[in-house]
Order: sequence, then structure tokens, then C-alpha cells
Amino acid sequence: MRPFDGKRVLLGVSGSIAAYKAADLASKLTQAGALVDVAMTDAATKFVGPVTFRSVTCRPVLTDLFDLESDGAIEHIALAKAADVMVVAPATANMLYKLAHGQADDPISVIALATHAPLLVAPAMDGGMWEHPAVQANVESLRTRGVAFAGPAAGRMASGITGIGRLVETPELMGRIAPILGRSGALAGIGVVVSAGGTEEPIDPVRVVTNRSSGKMGYAIAEAARDSGATVTLVAAPTALPDPVGVTTVSVGTAAEMAEAVNEACSTARVLIMAAAVADYRPRSPRGEKIKKGDAASLTVEMERTNDIIASAPRSLLRVGFAAESNDLLANGLQKLESKGLDMVVVNDISRSDIGFGSDDNQVTLLARAGSPEELPLMSKQDVAWAIVDRIAALLR
Ligand code: CTP
Repeated sequence: MRPFDGKRVLLGVSGSIAAYKAADLASKLTQAGALVDVAMTDAATKFVGPVTFRSVTCRPVLTDLFDLESDGAIEHIALAKAADVMVVAPATANMLYKLAHGQADDPISVIALATHAPLLVAPAMDGGMWEHPAVQANVESLRTRGVAFAGPAAGRMASGITGIGRLVETPELMGRIAPILGRSGALAGIGVVVSAGGTEEPIDPVRVVTNRSSGKMGYAIAEAARDSGATVTLVAAPTALPDPVGVTTVSVGTAAEMAEAVNEACSTARVLIMAAAVADYRPRSPRGEKIKKGDAASLTVEMERTNDIIASAPRSLLRVGFAAESNDLLANGLQKLESKGLDMVVVNDISRSDIGFGSDDNQVTLLARAGSPEELPLMSKQDVAWAIVDRIAALLR
């Protein structure tokens, strides 16, 4: 089950120029399956009209606590009680004061007092205001009460001044909201290590031996595990992907570096998922200086085996490997399950151009020690990640 599916998100929008970005957040949350109820202060409506939020959420917008007679009237206490999470984005300095002091005189501050849902606050204001001791005291008081903060980010503000005070972008907010909703998910409290990307083995200071892994599958698994309540460490070989929010990312280059980082992360984990394409061989003697071509018509680089990371990981972990195969998929997958002593192998067919390396979709078969092979249909790597996480949760039970 995806983190936003059918979840009630209360979005409080207060009066900052960044209010326009909240419309994008409301839209993305709705597209992800959440029921989004927006509450706005009077000042926020000066920046963006309620009709914008109504259009993207297809739900009434609360702007006036006393307007209970109109068609679009919503009962704010009922909204507060039904919420799974409350997000205030953007939160102005004034809104932080009200939230910290329990002042209730606008739709957002009233609902914030009435709700028992976890609260995530994304401040946006001028950099000088954010750093003011009065604002910082309110932030500290909210943090002490367990309120989570996203940002503010550094950058150029509407005033033209550069500083800390920008509302964080929608992907980061989504990445912060999802784990809050998934706190009591299927992997709640479980430590999970995920590896991703293709390792790079140096030949000399400028050249490497690597592979076509994009890292997309491993990153999607790290996010799905995070959104199921797990504490996730992502050991990432070079990729073009941004670090996932709410996940500890350890960047590595070579297979040996990956082995070391995975070992260390596994000391506090219960599950290891090796989605990385790890080099099986590396140049035996990488040169310290760039190799010059000179007159040589050919060049031989002698390679040596790397250690198999997943095969040597402690058996006390639940260990999930990937099998990238171009022929005899099931037989080769089963052979890996047995020879590496794994609990599950995710087999994918790398001979198909529409899936696998670099693609956004994948079609895999899950082979576990217990039960028959589960052939999944072609789907997005996010959906494959959720299927893998669901199966891991079942194996842990
Ligand atoms: N793996 C690993 N350490 C290595 C090589 C691979 O932990 N040095 C992991 C991969 O991350 C993957 C699984 O082992 O989860 C299988 O990797 P794959 O390259 O498909 O298979 P190999 O075992 O390397 O066998 P082959 O290349 O011969 O198919």
C-alpha cells in the first residue's frame, strides 16, 4: 500500500509569497492518492486564491471559520480529527508564533490546536526574520513538543537577498510527509540497508570499469522501505539521482568501498537488499598516473575478482539479492539463491530493452526460499519496489 493512498492530509497555507508553491504540493499530494484539505489564512488568500487549491484538490477550502452556512462550508473540528498528518507550508513567522503559543484565531491555528495528527512545519520568510531570536525561540518550543520541521532552505528570497528562509521544494516536502504517514507501516522500526548504482573500478586516475546501472531500482526500494517505517541506509555507487530525503545515504565508488560501507551499516540492520550492480572483477594494479597511448596498438588490463558482498554478509540478516540475467532466468536465479544462501532473489531480464538498466519500468520475478516463484507484471520501478518491500515484510513475519 502506497503511503499517500486514501490518507487525509491537512495543508495549512499561511501568508507568504511562497504560498504559490503550496498549490503544487496540494496537487502532487492529490495525484499520489491523498485526500487534501486546505486551510488558508486571510493573508494567504492575498497571494493565491482558494479556487486554485479547490481546483487541484477537488475539495472545499477552509478560509473562514464562521462561514458554516455556505455550500462549501467545512467543519474544522471534524477535519482536525480526521487528519492523518497536518502540514503547514508555508509557515510565516507569525504562524510559528501562534503554533508555539497556542493562539487560535485563524483556520490553521485553530485546527492545529484541535488535531492529534503529527505536525510538519515548512517555514518561509526573510532570512533576517528566520534568524531572529524571537522566531528561533518559537521553533525551539515547537521542536521540543515533537513538531517536525522541513527547511527553510538557503537561496535567493523574494526580497532579492540571499539567505536561509526559502520554502523547501515539493519533492522534499513529499519525502518528509511520506515517512510520517508510514511510521506504523510494515517495516516499522526495522533497520534496512539498500545498495544501488554501478560500482566504478579505477584503471588509472581518469578511467574506470563500470556498468549501465542507473540506480533507479535501488533508490525506489530505499524510498519504499522508508515509507514503510524502516530506518534506511542507502549505500550508493555513482548515479545521477538526488539523495532520497529521510534516508542516510553513504556514497561509495568501488566494490571494496561498497563492501566496507555495507558491512558497517549492517551492524545495526535486520535486512540487506543488494540492488547494486557490483563489479565482479577490478583492475589488478590500477596505475597511479594516466596511461599514455604511445605507440601501443593494444592494451591489456589484468583483472582480479572482487569479494561477493551479499554472500559474505551475516546470515542473521534477511538478505535479498538481484539476479540480472539474459537467459535461463529462473534457473540462474535459483542457482544464485542457493549458492549465496539468500532469502530472496529478484530476477530481471536484462536482454529486454523496455525494462531494466536505465528504464523507469521493470518486470521481475521474486524467488524466495519458501513458496513458489512470483512473476510480477511490467510496472514502474516504484511499484516493483513496493512489491519487494511487501514480500520482505511477509518474510519477516
Ligand atoms: N553482488 C555482491 N557482490 C559482488 C557481486 C554481486 O553482493 N561482488 C550481488 C549483487 O548486488 C546482486 C547479486 O549479488 O544482488 C547478484 O549479482 P549478479 O551480478 O547478477 O550475479 P553474480 O553473482 O555476479 O553472477 P554472474 O555475474 O556470474 O551472473
